[in-house]
Amino acid sequence: MSIAETIKSRISTRAFLDTPVNEHELREILDVARWSPSGGNLQPWRVHVVSGDARARLIETVKKAIAENPFADESEIAIYPPKLGEPWRTRRYELGEAMYQKLEIPREDKPARIAHLLRNYEFFGAPVGLFFSLDRQFDKGQWAHLGMFMQSIALVAAERGLSSCMQEAWTARAKSVSAFLGLAAEEQLYCGMALGYGDTTEKVNQLRSSRVTVDEFATFMTE
Ligand SMILES: Cc1cc2nc3c(=O)[nH]c(=O)nc-3n(C[C@H](O)[C@H](O)[C@H](O)COP(=O)(O)O)c2cc1C
Repeated sequence: MSIAETIKSRISTRAFLDTPVNEHELREILDVARWSPSGGNLQPWRVHVVSGDARARLIETVKKAIAENPFADESEIAIYPPKLGEPWRTRRYELGEAMYQKLEIPREDKPARIAHLLRNYEFFGAPVGLFFSLDRQFDKGQWAHLGMFMQSIALVAAERGLSSCMQEAWTARAKSVSAFLGLAAEEQLYCGMALGYGDTTEKVNQLRSSRVTVDEFATFMTE
């Protein structure tokens, strides 16, 4: 696959097979992704990989925390601005509606929508979960670099026939996850990523989110 094809074919996969991904393959993916660029070559990213028993224990730990306090918000980072303006608000809404349409969950069926959201905390069934963190001294620049690293992982995985879903949902349980991973106090958790083989029989994986055209986000100055 060309880079363009890989970029266009990567989608967020929200239902996985339990087919395992071996550590050797994970290491190979990270071994490519480490060549991502970063300002000053700081390579500020850190990644924590969970699979097997560790994954099962993490899921159990977070499930318990959710049962004890379903509405807890342990996030240090706001996933979206508190008053998300247009056109972003509409884009977010449309994505949600398109996803629930694929899942055949109507707007009124709140319990089913919540149940789907909670699947985030099981990595949507993926056998591997990755968590990304940064040293707290870092600012917006390094956060952008972490994003490049994450995209590299998703693309290298896609090139190898693996699917992924980046998961900011985990930030709502950042304290529980950080404690589980044994993160040092200066380490800030950002995001998770589910990784594995997508279940192509699940309709949710047929969702192809839209994008605005180049003219809607690019300007070209020539004079
Ligand atoms: C940093 C990041 C975090 C995300 N977090 C979640 C998440 O927690 N749960 C989820 O289902 N999708 C999540 N997504 C997926 C986005 O909804 C998705 O990337 C977007 O709708 C575009 O669709 P596509 O990835 O299929 O092209 C996240 C994406 C990014 C880049």
